[in-house]
Amino acid sequence: MTVKDKNQNDNMGQELINSFEIDYIFESKPINRFKNKPTIEIIESKLNDLKTKIENISNCELKNNAKQIVFNDGNFKSPIMIVGEGPGQKEDELGKPFVGDAGQLLNKMLSAINIKRDNVYITNVVNYRPPNNRKPEQAEINRYSEFLREHISIIDPKILILMGSTAMEALFGSKIKISKERGIWKEVIINNKTYSVIITFHPAYLLRQADQKKYSWADLKIIRKKIDDLNLKI
Ligand code: URA
Repeated sequence: MTVKDKNQNDNMGQELINSFEIDYIFESKPINRFKNKPTIEIIESKLNDLKTKIENISNCELKNNAKQIVFNDGNFKSPIMIVGEGPGQKEDELGKPFVGDAGQLLNKMLSAINIKRDNVYITNVVNYRPPNNRKPEQAEINRYSEFLREHISIIDPKILILMGSTAMEALFGSKIKISKERGIWKEVIINNKTYSVIITFHPAYLLRQADQKKYSWADLKIIRKKIDDLNLKI
């Protein structure tokens, strides 16, 4: 390579760099990868803002037919976040997720792997009871999944448990089948952060299909192992 060729290459390289229109690619300052954890007050205020945002949703058949919003339950500092489908009658009356029959089974499932319900954080894909407990429609799942993603970002869990196909579809779309995807650790990226996610059957489904409980038990043991491997305080 002649000196002239080398200069020409350098010029082309510089032009390319200029075209990126960013001026920090060669910065020698180390990147701070240990971002400060938000304080409890900040998390609470973000949760309140999100709840208000959902309460202000307009043109929503779910909201228009429900008694009240069902936003969350449990410990917002928990490393474990559970996402169900949507409130049923009891949840609509009490304003809390998973307080009916499915909730009772959820409590038993958690205690089977030594977890107290109060030590996890619980929410649903849709925050208003669907009329006659119908499954939320695709458009509703899509609309509420924006809120769900924000919710996950705020809670920032180490483990995300999606219960049932609606929760699965909210984050992974409707092209996959829960029977194939359950019990496998996956990753989902929200707001530039990667979360460990597992899909498992919904307790309401297990109440109807008791023979599927063996798969649920297998999933619960996988979840317990992850908690132990990550040494999560729960
Ligand atoms: N089923 C759900 O998916 N969520 C609840 O809160 C109750 C039942």
